[in-house]
Amino acid sequence: MIERKKIRELLTLQPVGEDVVVKGWVRTKRGNKSIVFIALNDGSTINNIQIVVQAESFDEDLLKDITTGSCISVTGKLVNSQGQGQSVEIDARSVELYGKSDAETYPLQKKGHSMEFLREHAHLRFRTNTFGAVFRIRHSMAFAIHKYFNDKGFFYLHTPIITGSDAEGAGEMFHVTTLDLKNLPRKEDGSVNYADDFFGKETNLTVSGQLEGELGALALGEIYTFGPTFRAENSNTPRHLAEFWMIEPEMAFYDINDNMDLAEDFVKYLIRYALDNCADDLAFLNSMIDKNLLERLRFVVNNDFVRITYTEAIDILTNAPRAWEYPVGWGRDLQAEHERYLVEEHFKRPVILTDYPREIKAFYMKQNDDGKTVKAMDVLFPGIGEIIGGSQREESYEKLLGRISELNIPMKDLWWYLETRKFGTAPHSGFGLGFERLILFMTGMTNIRDVIPFPRTPRNAEF
Ligand code: 4AD
Ligand code: MG
Repeated sequence: MIERKKIRELLTLQPVGEDVVVKGWVRTKRGNKSIVFIALNDGSTINNIQIVVQAESFDEDLLKDITTGSCISVTGKLVNSQGQGQSVEIDARSVELYGKSDAETYPLQKKGHSMEFLREHAHLRFRTNTFGAVFRIRHSMAFAIHKYFNDKGFFYLHTPIITGSDAEGAGEMFHVTTLDLKNLPRKEDGSVNYADDFFGKETNLTVSGQLEGELGALALGEIYTFGPTFRAENSNTPRHLAEFWMIEPEMAFYDINDNMDLAEDFVKYLIRYALDNCADDLAFLNSMIDKNLLERLRFVVNNDFVRITYTEAIDILTNAPRAWEYPVGWGRDLQAEHERYLVEEHFKRPVILTDYPREIKAFYMKQNDDGKTVKAMDVLFPGIGEIIGGSQREESYEKLLGRISELNIPMKDLWWYLETRKFGTAPHSGFGLGFERLILFMTGMTNIRDVIPFPRTPRNAEF
């Protein structure tokens, strides 16, 4: 038996007159009574391989059943192609039909379906060129992330998905419970008695692995997490998901500047990796989705990110010749329109903003001596806005405790986090990169629902 080869490999081979076996899904079939051309794709590459079928040597019904979307196995000779657009093709000797695809009802018959239509057919959209490219790039980025950190001596730490705390203190959590919602156990005051729940306490899906990541960093030195995170924020925007993947490095002995250096080096590495390893898919997306994609990727790799403080950014925004939908003022959080103005119009390159007012940032950030700001850093990208959020962490037990009590965060949930500040505390920093926001940037796609296989958003958990 001849071993199956993937199309990605076949297209690089020089024909030596031997038979090959290829398996995949039919993209198109054309031809006439005597000769049939099938464009076959197996997902290994954006490129199809052409199968040439001499009709007289094949069963007529079999050929009729080979339609767009059907799955076949082909044995035949790899030959130099006579036609244009490919260097090699397969002269079919035998064809086996694994799965028919009803021509009347197969949803992906024509080209040029809208992204909305494809989202409703997320179970099949992998079979389009666009989504094939996006999900191959997504894979490559996941691989490159592990490679980057492994090469630097960081350890991959698996932080829990079910937690009893709210890492960001924003209260946007999905509860996890096995209690019978129709018959909840109650305490005397009427509140739910979680003592009877599976874990004996209130639990939720994690919004971030950071707090546990810090525990790892304060022993292993440099760690990163890469896992799913969940936010029950009711934001129906092209940049928010209820379930998204986040990469969170956490480093002992890094200050905010080391943290910024790492973030910049990291994303540039990832872009370079994509340019070097995903050339076919990027070229396709550049021609079909976003004509400036490659130029933008190269630009970001080749230019330093701007680094300014939040206060400087507020000055720029206040003086901008612009009417804002959301007001600008010191102490207010920046909205996407503000972030994108700084990046796309004012500086025309990625920007790292630091030293935000402490009131709009999480409790764990290191307080500056001015008593007003914290050592936060957000990395803002063209077309995306915030792609990374991070900070130097508050390592002082007293200051951290002070902030926790000011914000009325339940101490009983965080005793373990505070203990690291009691026993051998150390300066440390970290950040979180939103994986899907990275993939948006890498692919030129404009809706975050189209860079994760099965998006979870408010009122949508299909598939
Ligand atoms: O800024 P965030 O909320 O920061 C944290 O969670 C920190 N614990 C990270 C850390 O310091 N270790 O989220 C980090 C990043 C954002 O910059 C954004 O890219 C992404 O996660 N993100 C989302 N992506 C998709 N959908 C959402 N709802 C997101 N919320 C945040
Ligand atoms: Mg943030």
